[in-house]
Amino acid sequence: MTDTDSLEKAPTDGESGGLKKSKKKQKRENAWRPEGPRDPFAMLDSLPEKEQQEIQKALHLFSLGTSLPKTLQQAKNHTYRFWDTQPVTKLGDHITTHGPVEEVDASIRNEPCLLPQGFSWDTVDLSSPFVLGELCHLLNENYMEEDDNTIRFNFSPEYLLWALQPPNWLLQWNLGVRVDANKKLVGFIAAVPADVHIYETKKGLVQVKFLCVHKKLRLKRMTPVLIRELTRRVNQQGIYQAVYAAGTVLPTPISSCSQWHRPLNPRKLMEVNYPGLKQNMNLQRALKFNRLPEVTKIKGLRPMTKEDTPRILSILEKNLSNFHLSPLLSLQEVEHWFLPKENVNDTYVLEADNGTLTDMVSFYAVSSRVLNHPVHTSLRAAYLLYAVCNVTKMADLMQDTLVLAKAKGFDVFCALDVMDNMSFLEKLKFTISDKSVHYYLYNWKCPLMSPDKVSLVFPN
Ligand SMILES: CC(C)(COP(=O)(O)OP(=O)(O)OC[C@H]1O[C@@H](n2cnc3c(N)ncnc32)[C@H](O)[C@@H]1OP(=O)(O)O)[C@@H](O)C(=O)NCCC(=O)NCCS
Repeated sequence: MTDTDSLEKAPTDGESGGLKKSKKKQKRENAWRPEGPRDPFAMLDSLPEKEQQEIQKALHLFSLGTSLPKTLQQAKNHTYRFWDTQPVTKLGDHITTHGPVEEVDASIRNEPCLLPQGFSWDTVDLSSPFVLGELCHLLNENYMEEDDNTIRFNFSPEYLLWALQPPNWLLQWNLGVRVDANKKLVGFIAAVPADVHIYETKKGLVQVKFLCVHKKLRLKRMTPVLIRELTRRVNQQGIYQAVYAAGTVLPTPISSCSQWHRPLNPRKLMEVNYPGLKQNMNLQRALKFNRLPEVTKIKGLRPMTKEDTPRILSILEKNLSNFHLSPLLSLQEVEHWFLPKENVNDTYVLEADNGTLTDMVSFYAVSSRVLNHPVHTSLRAAYLLYAVCNVTKMADLMQDTLVLAKAKGFDVFCALDVMDNMSFLEKLKFTISDKSVHYYLYNWKCPLMSPDKVSLVFPN
């Protein structure tokens, strides 16, 4: 890897005129600016939030937003200036073998990748409540939004600690970029360690998460620099593979699945114009169609306790090994990912009369802010992690899970069509959204797999 990506962005005279910025501030922002005509994003960002949203809504309506390919077809016409330099398989390659794309380079550089002048690397220390608050702020203002920018993620500090600090997490893998002048956090990417099974190979790798660049620094090629520096820091620990998921098509998805939604509070979802709702339904019909029982029906279903951890590990081990891409969990990881934490995650287990655990289901919680709505300010979504059934039917366990999630105040339940999830999705009135989730492996080649062969689900 070289630093050319970070060096190729010589400051240019991008925008001027009406925008009253200090020369210093202008210079700072120009450091990431590519050469060429006026940056439309900078112009958009200079407008008040409300006007930005109106424009984004209009762009969305006419599908004119600048974005990366969302389909393989679109990807064929895209030039991947950065990804074409990386050890990933090329789009269209037919892979039949298993192994690294590139052999290990033992000489890992000691110096960090170069950043443009005015920016510095920061190891984001989440043990400081202040720094954790800064990360929340960056992500909540800039992380994925619905296309029309009316619903935004609202990650809580507890959620981020859970997602970013599983057993053996490393401080230096929480990587930030700050503006020298005011120390503002404007870029972030993280890796957490994980062991996975890829076909027959057991691999220690990292899961890459929470890639985020401040809106005002978009399209200025900060992402390649973040990825290169994180790669260097991961390589320093002797790890050369990564797994990550994204909504856009990059070289090359190992599997592509879809996000499905199940309304729990259809009235609110309709009022906030939640994407992907059935358009042909009026409110009365939607309420009736999505009605759920008041109480659960499976006898013995109860929240997980710490003592359940070893038995949950054994249920998961037996079940998840049937897939081509699956996690290899330790006892500590099972406790971390599944033991219920208020407003973060929930796990329910089914205990038989003789005390054995047979089934389990687990989901996590992500809140969003609803912007500029006269009534609603927030939305709560539950995301399925794992549902494993040995005794009950999957659809019965999931129906009870929907009842429990609704009782806990969630507005919508989301699940991917990975594993055996298709066995209940349509039956329980989930609808497929237009959001794909593509899985990628860094520096590992293997044959592609269908979503029902994937059992690696990780919160992002
Ligand atoms: C994703 C995000 C960081 C990309 O930033 P950007 O300013 O659009 O892109 P940059 O100019 O910095 O870099 C462009 C390069 O990054 C790559 N890239 C963009 N998004 C990527 C992603 N999610 N994962 C990996 N690479 C990505 C592009 O493909 C491009 O490389 P290429 O020339 O090989 O095609 C930014 O849009 C963002 O913060 N979005 C909100 C959060 C989000 O959606 N994160 C991704 C979660 S998967």
